[in-house]
Amino acid sequence: MVSVAIDGPAGAGKSTIAKAVSERLGFTYVDTGALYRAIGLHMLNLGIDLKNDELICSALSGLKINLIFKDGVQQVILCGEDVSDLIRTPSVSMAASQISQNQEVRKFLLNLQREIALKSNVLMDGRDIGTVVLPNADVKIFLTASAEARARRRYEELIKKGIKDSYEKVLSDIKLRDYYDSHREIAPLIPAKDSVIIDTTKYTLEESIDKIENVIKERLV
Ligand code: DC
Repeated sequence: MVSVAIDGPAGAGKSTIAKAVSERLGFTYVDTGALYRAIGLHMLNLGIDLKNDELICSALSGLKINLIFKDGVQQVILCGEDVSDLIRTPSVSMAASQISQNQEVRKFLLNLQREIALKSNVLMDGRDIGTVVLPNADVKIFLTASAEARARRRYEELIKKGIKDSYEKVLSDIKLRDYYDSHREIAPLIPAKDSVIIDTTKYTLEESIDKIENVIKERLV
């Protein structure tokens, strides 16, 4: 099986780009952030203090999360319920970033992610795919863009979905999440040594998709 790891900060366009490139290459697109989001949603539903590691750990026991792929589209199932839409709110984004610092949460999700990569050719996006989850990935890409460019894109996405938030709030959330994601002790967001770093600040979406498709093809021949 072939695996491509795409890591990078929130809002770098990973999911949109990875989805489009997977379609072109006929790979399964796996959005691992959705798993952290599902756990974040679960903890919010239970009213658990996201800083309380003990309570988070005990809420993990018996928790069932899996990803299913319908016509190539990923759906997240949390305890039998499809939560694919519910996990896309700003409060779940923040909760996901917070619970992702918990070591037991990361362990809980590790095998699940690896098992998916054993079953098909994948393009997996996240924060630690090239460094921890799939250290032997055939291609590793670290996708980034300035915080302002990422906030602008995220803001426009939220508006399209009818979620109202100010640009300033989206920008400060992105900066806070960058901080959490890159300063945590376990599996922090850092480029793998053998990754190709791509900064999309000045690229259009189409240019980013072409660029990444080419990088992958060049390395797979
Ligand atoms: O990619 P995303 O924004 O949907 O991810 C939500 C949060 O999950 C993100 O702030 C950090 C965490 N995450 C992680 O720690 N490791 C991953 N492989 C994917 C996401």
